[in-house]
Amino acid sequence: MRVATQNPAFDLIGKRYDESFVERDTQIAEADWLITQLPPGSRVLDLGCGSGLPTAKQFVDAGLAVVGVDESPVMLELAATQAPGADYRLGDLRDLSTLGEFDAVVAFFSLLMLSKADIEATLRAARAALRGPKLLLISMVQGDFDTFPVNFLGAPTTVSAYPPDQLKHIVAEAGFTNVTLNELEAEAEPGRIEVQLYLRATAT
Ligand SMILES: C[S@@+](CC[C@H](N)C(=O)[O-])C[C@H]1O[C@@H](n2cnc3c(N)ncnc32)[C@H](O)[C@@H]1O
Repeated sequence: MRVATQNPAFDLIGKRYDESFVERDTQIAEADWLITQLPPGSRVLDLGCGSGLPTAKQFVDAGLAVVGVDESPVMLELAATQAPGADYRLGDLRDLSTLGEFDAVVAFFSLLMLSKADIEATLRAARAALRGPKLLLISMVQGDFDTFPVNFLGAPTTVSAYPPDQLKHIVAEAGFTNVTLNELEAEAEPGRIEVQLYLRATAT
């Protein structure tokens, strides 16, 4: 795998992420939907799994075999405590080469931390890593910028974003079909409303 970034932003953010991220209802509902599509024991790759909450825990509790990848040792330590039972790997989500094949890939609010070129390459790599039901579930924020510097919970990082139609387009270009998108306003941090995009797709 690629060498993980030194001092990733989420090493600074750590536990504050779970405490400050207010509205997770749609993310939880999307993961629940995925669970209904997969037989127990299916392999699911959670890209940028963060602290393991809520998603990796939902999948482990549902009897799925979860591989969680994150570049932040601090977030992975939280995940191992809060959502034990998954196989957590410290690494860069842009390199899926050593992880094997999966029935589904999810990336909730993690691809947005990459450049647009890397998002598109990672979607192609995710497509190539899929077997069986071949399901993809991602969430992003709505916008139109590439590697835009932001300060998130006191940590400097960058965010990339697409308008809804462009997001659907790049997912289709990566080899996915049945692309559906749900756009909603959510309170990401107390008092900060953002437009979030949840996308489901399959690959044939
Ligand atoms: C906004 S958090 C989302 C965490 C989790 N998916 C969730 O829904 O709570 C983004 C996560 O992606 C991880 N991340 C960002 N860029 C990454 C990269 N290039 N490789 C691996 N992990 C990365 C961060 O460390 C962080 O844990």
